[in-house]
Amino acid sequence: MCKYQLFKWFQPGKACIFAAMADQQESLKPIVSHAKEYGYVFPSSEIYDGLGAVYDYGPYGSELKNNIRNYWWKAMVHLHENVVGLDAAIFMHPTTWKASGHVDAFNDPLIDNKDSKKRYRADVLVEDYLAKYEQKIEKEVKKGKKRFGDDFDEEQFRATNPNVKRAQDKIDNVTGRMKEALDNNDLVALQQLIEDEGIADPDTGSKNWTEVRQFNLMFGTQLGSVAGDSSTIYLRPETAQGIFVNFLNVQKSSRQKIPFGIAQTGKAFRNEIVARQFIFRMREFEQMEMQFFVRPGTEMEWYQYWKEKRMNWHQALGTDPARLRFHDHIKLAHYANAAVDIEFEFPFGFKEVEGIHSRTDYDLGRHQEFSGKKLQYYDPELQQNYVPYVVETSIGLDRMFLLILSSAYTEETLEDGSQRTVLKLPPALAPVKVAVLPLLKKDGLPEKAREVLDELRFDFNCQYDEKDAIGKRYRRQDAIGTPYCLTIDHQTLEDGTLTIRERDSMAQERIAIEQVRQIVHDRVDMTKLLRQI
Ligand code: GAP
Repeated sequence: MCKYQLFKWFQPGKACIFAAMADQQESLKPIVSHAKEYGYVFPSSEIYDGLGAVYDYGPYGSELKNNIRNYWWKAMVHLHENVVGLDAAIFMHPTTWKASGHVDAFNDPLIDNKDSKKRYRADVLVEDYLAKYEQKIEKEVKKGKKRFGDDFDEEQFRATNPNVKRAQDKIDNVTGRMKEALDNNDLVALQQLIEDEGIADPDTGSKNWTEVRQFNLMFGTQLGSVAGDSSTIYLRPETAQGIFVNFLNVQKSSRQKIPFGIAQTGKAFRNEIVARQFIFRMREFEQMEMQFFVRPGTEMEWYQYWKEKRMNWHQALGTDPARLRFHDHIKLAHYANAAVDIEFEFPFGFKEVEGIHSRTDYDLGRHQEFSGKKLQYYDPELQQNYVPYVVETSIGLDRMFLLILSSAYTEETLEDGSQRTVLKLPPALAPVKVAVLPLLKKDGLPEKAREVLDELRFDFNCQYDEKDAIGKRYRRQDAIGTPYCLTIDHQTLEDGTLTIRERDSMAQERIAIEQVRQIVHDRVDMTKLLRQI
């Protein structure tokens, strides 16, 4: 199992985080099909029936991704004098991954069903099994609410109802056994748990399992033409190691003094066993990571600082605060002295989007040991050399993309009873900022509209659309999340004004063409978000 994630899911008594895999797929369905229909995300190599957990970003998806990355980069690098950027290679010397611990410990517990030949993550099988008990509890609570109406005391009901108690006991017991097995890296105990509980293949019902084995998540390949262990290199499973090995190069060349940070965005690769959650868990994905190097003993102060900064970054986007929360890691990796996740309530429950980890001097220390090169900083104030401590912020760009889509995707019934699907994207992140629409395809309106468009496209990503009735064109822009539509009509030709329509309220205002640039700029500018962080 991923060394950073080993115990993140585990919350005794809070089994509501166990969401059934089938439900996960079901709850994402409208978003997945909308993303495909409107050019946000496509399955990779779809004409060959796709490739598991690999996706391509379409015309709007690639714009949205760029905007999210840009928002992160500006917030982390441009707004911090003491954070600088890096773009390290994906391939690294193989010893990097020995030193980082990934070769020996970047594993997930894997189990195969002998009848169906399907492969599962053993811990996820157990999670899904527990989700059924959680659903039972929720059903009982619902029944209770219906029966007792306003007098219903949910806390008391959960504590006393025999059916709820039985299900909760089961959840606590199985969760406890699983935690112990994972804690001790005891794969036999995990296997025994699956057997004792009679957990079956969710697809076929077969209980004919292989033993549980560790499965390393790194993709290996050969460097050059000679095959063999010595030439095996890996596609990086995290971008962070590129930062650690460049620590001194960056510090010296940018004349940074501790505390300072190095930020980078880039692809990472993990051979995930479970691959059924759209872009939540991918085999090829992008990370946005920052390692902040500090004087030993000051790391908790910086950990708090970055925890707050990162939550502010999320909240500035206008995401419903009730759908964001911190979740402290219950058990820390051996090299960490604090770790927390920022979780978002996806359609399939609260899940991690970002991690903030206080990683001590573990990584630099290990690279120093394995490379034989000193990775130390001379602190002029203390007049001594030391291996700096590190506070890391690590967010998945694709997961953030899914967060944005999940919170933006809205199906609405309008006053006239008609339906619309709208992506209420933060305007600063929207792929297209403005659509310019001539009311009719004649009378010089298209020419005037193009004139307006040609001026605006220097400042904003714009779209021109003259096909179909105006209402239909508004719906199309709603579906891709364009915050503003400008309509050019006959009055525009007479007095130089046009209509600006706001996506979420659908309110329309008449303004002069000369005002458009400033008005749109004021409303879609990323600076507004950045100032809130
Ligand atoms: N350097 C620390 C690190 O890699 P992690 O918790 O394994 O920590 C950090 O990953 C972030 O990367 C996660 O919070 C998540 O947003 C993203 N991530 C991890 N695995 C992913 C996957 N298979 N698909 C998409 N995003 C992933």
